[in-house]
Amino acid sequence: MKLLVCGGAGFIGSAFVRRQIQLHDDVEVVCLDKLTYAGNLDNLAPVAEDARYTFVEGDICDREVVEAAAAGVDAIVNFAAETHVDRSIAEPDAFIRTDVLGTHTLLEVVRERGIGRLVQVSTDEVYGSIDEGSFTEESQITPSSPYSASKAGGDLQVLAYHRTFGLPVMITRGSNTYGPYQYPEKLIPLFVTNALEGKKMPLYGDGMNVRDWLHVDDHCSGIEWVLGKGEPGEVYNVGGGNERTNREITSIILDELGLSEDSIEWVTDRPGHDRRYSLDTGKLRAQGWASEVDFEQGLRDTIRWYRDNETWWHKIKHGEGEFAQWQKRWYEDRA
Ligand code: NAD
Ligand code: TYD
Repeated sequence: MKLLVCGGAGFIGSAFVRRQIQLHDDVEVVCLDKLTYAGNLDNLAPVAEDARYTFVEGDICDREVVEAAAAGVDAIVNFAAETHVDRSIAEPDAFIRTDVLGTHTLLEVVRERGIGRLVQVSTDEVYGSIDEGSFTEESQITPSSPYSASKAGGDLQVLAYHRTFGLPVMITRGSNTYGPYQYPEKLIPLFVTNALEGKKMPLYGDGMNVRDWLHVDDHCSGIEWVLGKGEPGEVYNVGGGNERTNREITSIILDELGLSEDSIEWVTDRPGHDRRYSLDTGKLRAQGWASEVDFEQGLRDTIRWYRDNETWWHKIKHGEGEFAQWQKRWYEDRA
């Protein structure tokens, strides 16, 4: 089995690539990644020397690049996307380009080359916010942010290419994911690394927004299941069943690091902030998939990983990249 993994230098994509190489002797991986601010070859260092792994730097919007990278592959898994909601509010253009046009380019290459399968890694955010109950795969999509709207645009193209051209494509909609190697702009790694540096944790609004948290290993096992056994044209929700308010997440981080609530800074809310995400994962669970990581244990292990791997995130936060400028642009007026 030869896989093209797009966006494999990011948080979840790199976990998926490491998993394929480390757990499956018969899998070869070509990783195609543009290495945007969020792409990081350090995430792939554990497999960099493996003969079954190849890295190609390139853009999923560039058809020639994708065609060359896809030569001889059996399947494509697409993680490549602009992914941060706050950046999509501040600077939406790249989201439309990569999440919509990039997905279209991959579909065209699958169509032209007759590639066996494509899994589009999507998000529960396409459904929008839900006050009570949970979203099933049949729920309407009503995205709130430019990020979730661009992901929804990608999803709709995938489904249309199945209906129109019969392409063997599937969609996973994962919930908020946590674990090692997550770019430290997202809630958990931002709060943990800020706390480790003696900085404040900028909590939006009243801190009562709810997310369903999924460990990155469980997210990857769900995607792997769909890659192997999913039905073409189908959508699969992949959730952890761990709904927590941001306040609760913050309390566990404070507790693990022995800090007080003085480390919280209450800041102006994100515009269009979805109140609650909740996924019904019955469809995938009925097929035998289950998440395995206990949430509180997984979160505490993740916090310790950032504590023990300061070199990894210090390079991002204080190196040559644009992390500091982004933080200034976004948070300066929110305090
Ligand atoms: P990430 O931001 O950590 O990584 C994205 C990767 O895509 C980076 O390596 C980046 O360089 C690459 N990329 C961006 N634009 C590209 C382009 N035009 N061509 C090639 N590569 C490009 O993201 P992540 O958190 O690992 O998310 C991966 C996927 O999972 C995304 O599609 C996201 O929508 C989805 N998802 C994420 C979460 C989450 O909580 N992080 C939850 C559900 C779904
Ligand atoms: P985030 O990690 O950006 O993921 P998403 O917006 O895709 O769910 O945010 C998770 C939650 O944490 C969301 O409700 C917004 C909140 N949040 C803060 O309160 N402060 C922050 O600085 C960030 C980045 C997020």
